[in-house]
Amino acid sequence: MHFSAIGRVPGDPILGLIDAYNQDSNPNKFDLGVGVYKDANGLTPILQSVKQAEQRLVDQQQTKTYIGGHGDSRFGQLISELVLGTDSPLLAAKRAGATQTPGGTGALRLVADFIAHCLPERGIWLSDPTWPIHESIFAEAGLKVGHYPYVGRDNTLNVAAMLHALENVPQGDVVLLHACCHNPTGFDLSQDDWLQVLDVVRRRELLPLIDFAYQGFGDGLEEDAWSTRLFVSELPEVLITSSCSKNFGLYRERVGALIVCANDAEKLTDVRSQLAYLARNLWSNPPDHGAAVVATILGDAQLKAQWTAEVEAMRSRIAQLRSGLVEALTPFGLAERFAHINQQRGMFSYTGLSTEQVQVLREKHSVYMVGSGRANMAGVDVTRLELLAKAIAQVCQH
Ligand code: LMR
Repeated sequence: MHFSAIGRVPGDPILGLIDAYNQDSNPNKFDLGVGVYKDANGLTPILQSVKQAEQRLVDQQQTKTYIGGHGDSRFGQLISELVLGTDSPLLAAKRAGATQTPGGTGALRLVADFIAHCLPERGIWLSDPTWPIHESIFAEAGLKVGHYPYVGRDNTLNVAAMLHALENVPQGDVVLLHACCHNPTGFDLSQDDWLQVLDVVRRRELLPLIDFAYQGFGDGLEEDAWSTRLFVSELPEVLITSSCSKNFGLYRERVGALIVCANDAEKLTDVRSQLAYLARNLWSNPPDHGAAVVATILGDAQLKAQWTAEVEAMRSRIAQLRSGLVEALTPFGLAERFAHINQQRGMFSYTGLSTEQVQVLREKHSVYMVGSGRANMAGVDVTRLELLAKAIAQVCQH
């Protein structure tokens, strides 16, 4: 038999939770697993701005012909402006360009192939911990994957250890940095920390790859772009992977971009020719619909204003849930132990709960979170904060 030697691999550590949660019949279950935004009713609704843009597309779209290897050029321009700023000198100098990809994950896959193909022998360095799919995407593309310390066993951000490790990364290697809302920990670098990282990256001649999947979920759409804009203004070459899954709520439509910043327009054209070649071999043309929705929104002042307000509403709701959970934990004497939840940013919190505690939470209390102790704060139900706090308190006492 051809398949007889093929074994089984474990299910995805994040997506596997969707099935487990759906199969749980406990009406009081909590879904703090996969990173999707949920509203006060526990739903992941389609944004109003998206609905309106979709209606326009249904009414006005004339064709379903191919959109080309780099995708929709209007989307490319508008997403680059969202990430780099509307007045970005790089865009004016044609030093930056976007390739539309199936989600931020597609952008990561494309950049992994780009490094393997065009910059052979370069290793890639990931934060420890990082999003588990970073590990497998780069390893599967054949890159040598290394790690720099980020959040230690004591569940605190260790910038000194990170900087020390980066000093020892071989010259020319790629360093993946999370622009904001670090996944899985929620611990972000301060502006001062970013300046220090920039200094090492510049001195060691490292190539930064900035993963920007949560723009708008940390401190705001513009605020969250600060680190990315700093790097592109100070360095000649930067790679950026951007996702529209969370901030446009377009998860299943698969919308993202790989933005390349090169030293000059000529070199950008060379790099983009390679990306078109690699993308052709991966998915040929990217899917159109979600990117067309994003372009419709960002290209229309009224829709953009509506969308901006919707992102801000999601962002502030998550921030409120953070403080709400810490408050709910206070009567159990756990306010100090979980004070970090208020310092973290974005969807995720590294709670500091152990794998065993996560297991007990799941089995005894139907609270679903990733085995690493990562909780999706957007999945916390504001009407059941006490119940969640009680469950957490019970596992902490054992
Ligand atoms: C997550 O980390 O939960 C999200 O980014 C969803 C995913 O694709 O894993």
